[in-house]
Amino acid sequence: MNLMLLGAPGAGKGTQAKLLIDKYEIPQISTGDILREAVKAGTEMGLKAKEAMDNGQLVSDDIIIGIIKDRLAQADCKKGFILDGFPRTIPQAEALENLMQDMGIKLDNVISLNVPDEEIVERITGRRVSKLTGKIYHIKYNPPVDEKEEDLIIRKDDNKETVLKRLSAYHEQTAPLVDFYQKKGIFSEVDGTQDIENITKSIEAILEGK
Ligand code: AP5
Ligand code: MG
Repeated sequence: MNLMLLGAPGAGKGTQAKLLIDKYEIPQISTGDILREAVKAGTEMGLKAKEAMDNGQLVSDDIIIGIIKDRLAQADCKKGFILDGFPRTIPQAEALENLMQDMGIKLDNVISLNVPDEEIVERITGRRVSKLTGKIYHIKYNPPVDEKEEDLIIRKDDNKETVLKRLSAYHEQTAPLVDFYQKKGIFSEVDGTQDIENITKSIEAILEGK
């Protein structure tokens, strides 16, 4: 199964992807996570991406397409994958289509998690991520248990000023993908304001054709 999760910053893409990978035994491919690793490691790609990420802007398509090309070629993607935060522009979606065509595979489902902008800021500013396990928490909606305070990090772009810029980038550059995938007949929407468990159930119902 080849799935893509679409949605604004903080819509819950990472939270849901981490729950689905266990059930379907396929990897999560988060371009955001790959970029943050590159920034941390200080690679050339990380250095190029950092400024855009810190400013809430998108990283250039050529960097992102290169990342995906390498990642999809890895053995663990043979059974399928969950794309989280990619594609984010029409050129990225077109490049993905060509890449998958060359590989003889196709996207089965694009699921959009819909959350109004008003809720996004609270979600983003309350997010904490475990630096040990990568688990995603929210101080109010999904509070950490059995985690030490010092193991929880706040992402550098998780502040009000930057999230507003990330939301603008989403509406201007990523939202056109809704129409792109609707035309291909593989697009569904889920109410992302439900609780985490019910969102997972809604996604599973789509994937299982219920
Ligand atoms: P990326 O890391 O992808 O960030 P994003 O798209 O802004 O999305 P987030 O990770 O912030 O949100 P999420 O939807 O995963 O939500 P989460 O599950 O964590 O990208 C970061 C940057 O990298 C970009 O700004 C860009 O610069 C660059 N980049 C990445 N990919 C790129 C690409 N393809 N092209 C160009 N540039 C790219 O949940 C958020 C919070 O809400 C958590 O606290 C969680 O606990 C809570 N929560 C989750 N679900 C619920 C719920 N149902 N109810 C209440 N709270 C909930
Ligand atoms: Mg995420």
